[in-house]
Amino acid sequence: MRTQVGIVGAGPAGLLLSHLLALRGIESVVVELRSRAYCEARQRAGVIEDGSVRLLRAAGLAERLDRQGLEHGGIYLQFAGERHHIDFRELTGGRTVTVYAQTEVVKDLIAHRIAAGGALHFDVTDTEVDLLESDQPVLRFTDADGVRQELRCDAIAGCDGFHGICRPAIPPGLTTVRERDYPYSWLGILADVPPSTDELIYAHHRDGFALHSLRSPTVSRLYLQVDPDESIENWPDDRIWAALQRRFELPGSGWELKQGPVLDKGITPMRSFVSAPMRYGRLFLAGDAAHIVPATGAKGLNLAIADVTVLAPALDALLHGDDGPAAAYSAICLSRVWRSTHFSWWMTTMLHRTPGADEMEAQLQLSQLRYLVSSRAAATCLAENYTGYPPGSATRPS
Ligand code: FAD
Ligand code: PHB
Repeated sequence: MRTQVGIVGAGPAGLLLSHLLALRGIESVVVELRSRAYCEARQRAGVIEDGSVRLLRAAGLAERLDRQGLEHGGIYLQFAGERHHIDFRELTGGRTVTVYAQTEVVKDLIAHRIAAGGALHFDVTDTEVDLLESDQPVLRFTDADGVRQELRCDAIAGCDGFHGICRPAIPPGLTTVRERDYPYSWLGILADVPPSTDELIYAHHRDGFALHSLRSPTVSRLYLQVDPDESIENWPDDRIWAALQRRFELPGSGWELKQGPVLDKGITPMRSFVSAPMRYGRLFLAGDAAHIVPATGAKGLNLAIADVTVLAPALDALLHGDDGPAAAYSAICLSRVWRSTHFSWWMTTMLHRTPGADEMEAQLQLSQLRYLVSSRAAATCLAENYTGYPPGSATRPS
């Protein structure tokens, strides 16, 4: 079998790349370890930057997003028993974010690829990439019927997430890895209850960080900082709600956290990771396969979208004999990746409690938070980074 671009992974990066290539008349095959149902149900991101929304719209993918996405013009920061609003619209000249779940982005992308007759193989096993330095790299996998397949490609996109096989296929010594593990994880729940807030609440608390997000007018998404080795079995629903109630409480305000049935729960580690460069021969890494940010900055999905927006035209040029844009791919993406890595690290370390930390850390965090809600310049810095950067650039606000 032959295709122009072999794509490993049907997450947001792989599926969007396949769609963007199709718009350019380039054929691709996507291979995915998991089932379609699993990919469409995996609970992950919820916040989409302004630029990502515009990009999805320009690619003809935003029909449902425009109907069901919830535009948010700010966030709340809560600390020391106070809740403050950061007004993105006012601070950035009108920029916003959109709350629309990654599950929905993935469903939309899969539906579009299938409707367009795109080749999508779910439930594959034993994926391998080979001959990456040649101009005919090979993608091998065993399909859902147990048949071993070999695809000859012009290029391969490694969009297979942090635990995929593409990054490790680059010979050791050719990549530089920068990483940081944080001494905490997030316990996330999806709850069948209307959100108790109109915009996301990021809460600093002595017991640890908490986040109130949402999925729709009837479904809430909430997160709690927990120990890194914590097991979900130790957290029955009652314990989760009690911890959330404590961390969000605002005595005397009349505000209440509404509780409801827990539909899904899980624990996610917090990590920063950047592997560079994002290209080896004819293998191009995109999204979580190349970089991970802690979820506090809501950047991971947006970075995946930004990477493939740069990669699609670069592959188009490569397939037409021009290596220039492909040669620039890694550096262009890494500039945004590092900006988001810094922002996510900053939000994370400002809002979480480091186990065993002394009063010095707490006071430094509170001082930074007070500065953010009292200085227009500081608040603008948060607003500009949170709402995002235009594709291809990490520093110039749109
Ligand atoms: P993935 O979504 O991980 O997709 C990779 C795919 O490759 C998977 O489907 C996997 O099954 C497949 N795969 C792996 N190995 C193989 C193989 N050998 N063969 C074939 N297929 C393979 N980001 C935001 O921007 N905003 C947020 O609000 C946000 N919140 C988050 C909250 C949580 C709790 C978590 C966990 C993440 C959050 N993120 C957020 C991050 C975001 O979800 C990820 O950055 C995003 O999923 C990256 O997309 P991707 O396509 O690169 O990788
Ligand atoms: C989410 O809704 O899942 C979400 C929102 C904001 C974050 C992280 C996760 O910073």
